[in-house]
Amino acid sequence: MPMPASFKLDLPVRPRRLRRTAALRELMRETQLKAADLIAPLFVVEGDAAPQEIASMPGQFRLNLPDLVKECRELWALGIRAVALFPKLDPKLKNAEGTEEVNEDGLILRAVRAVKAAIPELIVITDVALDPYTSHGHDGVLNAAGDDVDNDRTVERLAAMAVRQARAGVDFVAPSDMMDGRVGAIRAALDAAGFVETGILAYSVKFNSAYYGPFREAVGSAQAAGTKLLSKATYQLDPANRRAALAEADLDEEEGADILMVKPAGAYLDIIRDVRERSDRPLAAYQVSGEYAQIHAAARLGWLDLERTRDESLLAIKRAGADLILTYFAKEVARALT
Ligand code: PBG
Repeated sequence: MPMPASFKLDLPVRPRRLRRTAALRELMRETQLKAADLIAPLFVVEGDAAPQEIASMPGQFRLNLPDLVKECRELWALGIRAVALFPKLDPKLKNAEGTEEVNEDGLILRAVRAVKAAIPELIVITDVALDPYTSHGHDGVLNAAGDDVDNDRTVERLAAMAVRQARAGVDFVAPSDMMDGRVGAIRAALDAAGFVETGILAYSVKFNSAYYGPFREAVGSAQAAGTKLLSKATYQLDPANRRAALAEADLDEEEGADILMVKPAGAYLDIIRDVRERSDRPLAAYQVSGEYAQIHAAARLGWLDLERTRDESLLAIKRAGADLILTYFAKEVARALT
């Protein structure tokens, strides 16, 4: 039915009044991204090779130590205040027990020392999990039958690993393994070793997600030992489960996590909101490798606008309630914000 040109609704409230101009929209904006909210994950590799781009993560590289330090300086200058470091090990160094992890002169510990020496103020975070070191690619060591990760034996290893990282100078250790009781054990081990100031950023709510695929390529932990597809379903959370996720967040809070984290981010905005409302601890979310890869893939095909999709994806994570976001977009967003 065509309306006469003079038709006017009698509306007391017209929300469009607040969206009229760019200035008004800026004034009304509820959520903002800022560089200091973003944490840049970085991959480090042995040797002096030029940066190797990770095929499924355009613009992300495995860096040797000098290049890593250079990258950290650039990030710092752009306003990024924290980095999360991940080692890509020579497969020859891997075995079922992940023994290279105990090497005090191992890659990741040297990387931490180099970055902290160069930029002492930059906050350095390292993963506490054995997957870069194990030939089977699991986050821990296996039980006697060899058919599952042994929880308690793994926690013992992780606590010692965290102390080594603290000694190398990290600001936060980030247990990403999802073993039961690991946050409490790590806190106790850090305190006993005198590292009361070293924080724990806990991967509290980490789902058993297909979105980690590109990362496993980056660190070489995918199906490391051969034919069996790597499943972490006995320790990482079932993506279908909300209550189980919240129970994990509660446990990590009780065990002494300084910062809680939800991972992945984009597909779990409801969980980010839930944890935000439940806990007063700072909350981080990890926009993981697969989230980054899918935006890039669609952009390459010309199907999505890279910058707009990137910013929208990050804004959504903040709006859901995350204070901090680990994202491979950190550097380019920080640059865009300056
Ligand atoms: C390993 C770890 C993973 C990620 C961070 N730490 C992968 C996994 O659990 O298999 C994923 C990060 C990403 O996908 O960007 N403990």
